[in-house]
Amino acid sequence: MSRRPLFAIVVLCSAGAGCHDVDGAPNATSPGSDSALSVFERRVLPIFKSPKPSSCSECHLSGVDLKDYIRPTQAETFAALVASGMVDTKETDRSKILGFIGRKPEKPSLVTEKVRKEEYEAFRAWLRAAVREPDLLSAKSTDEPFGPKVSEEVIRHARSDRVLASFVENVWSEIGRCAACHSPEKNAEQVKKHGEQVSWITPRDPEATMRHMLDAGIIDAETPEESLLLAKPTERVKHGGGQKMVVGDRSYKQLRRFLDDYAATAGGEYRTADDLPRPAGEVSEVSEIWFKLTDVPEEFDQKLLQVDLYRQEGDGWSKDRWATSDRPVFGKGRLWQHSLGLTAPRGSARAEEIRGRQTLPAGRYLAKIYVDRSGKLAADFRAEMGAEDLWGEIEVESRWAEGYGEMTEAPFPESRLRR
Ligand code: HEC
Ligand code: HEC
Repeated sequence: MSRRPLFAIVVLCSAGAGCHDVDGAPNATSPGSDSALSVFERRVLPIFKSPKPSSCSECHLSGVDLKDYIRPTQAETFAALVASGMVDTKETDRSKILGFIGRKPEKPSLVTEKVRKEEYEAFRAWLRAAVREPDLLSAKSTDEPFGPKVSEEVIRHARSDRVLASFVENVWSEIGRCAACHSPEKNAEQVKKHGEQVSWITPRDPEATMRHMLDAGIIDAETPEESLLLAKPTERVKHGGGQKMVVGDRSYKQLRRFLDDYAATAGGEYRTADDLPRPAGEVSEVSEIWFKLTDVPEEFDQKLLQVDLYRQEGDGWSKDRWATSDRPVFGKGRLWQHSLGLTAPRGSARAEEIRGRQTLPAGRYLAKIYVDRSGKLAADFRAEMGAEDLWGEIEVESRWAEGYGEMTEAPFPESRLRR
């Protein structure tokens, strides 16, 4: 058994985690206080009653928790743990429940690491003491065995690594559009004028960015649609950066996809695989390639216009779009312009290629232009542009160079449809 330095013992004692014995071995000088019951009541039961999340929450946003493996009395808890196969009564230190508690991420947080150590030592000490008491060993579980109340798919979906992957796919992939004013590497001026809170991006660190958004209330996990992450760029709440997206556009849909799912996951709303949202069929990545349509009829002012680009392949055009962009028309200026989001079918080779390498191959493309004349996307953000919204098409040849100054331009086409 490893020796701990004295100060560690002091720290543990002040945290109320069993002052007489950090290792959980029986303490010969204070008989009675090391009985299984005493250990259970002083060290295990408080975990059950604590409103704070257990160490499991570092990897499981919901679905499993250490509290699910504790019942109000020692006898019930022990019997149910044994019945669920969570305790090795011959070698308690090898019990499955200790394996669960002992799991830790590569970079555990200091706070959680302390909680984890307390939980681990509490359970280890209690199990060691419990198997020495014949009454406990022979107790029978009358209740259901322990275990998750949700399906395996839901546990997997709620794992922090999965949640982070969804953040990267749906939010981080859009962050380039906010970086000029919200990344500390670029926003010295905004900070001077508005304060440190405008620096909500941590460069190259999506996990830290997500954590900060949750801590700072930019993500509202209770009412996700109220999140500042949506309210600011849509200008439902006054935004120093102006209107950056509108309800129903692709960016809005993606942010909602993450936010709604995060809230449902954190709130424990999923039970089975059927409850889980289906992944989008397409992945996307915001680029710095700009596209502009000129001579747009003024009557389309503020109507959402979407351009989809299909690459030339042989005599025709690709089956899937290679890029897309949507933004309201600027009627007075008779123009529409925006940066392109590169797109690819999920799981395709190109889906990998567009990650972090935001280029569109030079060449000829067909631009399909949709206009939401009835405002249906604003009315229902889940609605999509359909054949009835297709205004027209135009062929465009370009190098698709990056940068606002290198914008590719095309004239707004005559409609092929009757108005
Ligand atoms: C370091 C991250 C991490 C921590 C902390 C963690 N788990 Fe897990 N857990 C996982 C991973 C990863 C899986 C998926 C299992 C696999 O793929 O092998 C999982 C799966 C599970 C499962 C379902 C499958 C199985 O192995 O039975 C349960 C139940 C579970 N964990 C319970 C817990 C409990 C209870 C805690 C806290 C005491 C906890 N976990 C803490 C990472 C963690
Ligand atoms: C041209 C600069 C600019 C751009 C681009 C920009 N913003 Fe902002 N944003 C600001 C300024 C300035 C503030 C501070 C004043 C305010 O709260 O409106 C701000 C504030 C915010 C806040 C509130 C932060 C807080 O904690 O108070 C959020 C959230 C936000 N922006 C989201 C976004 C998102 C999402 C994008 C990208 C889609 C974006 N912004 C793009 C300038 C910008």
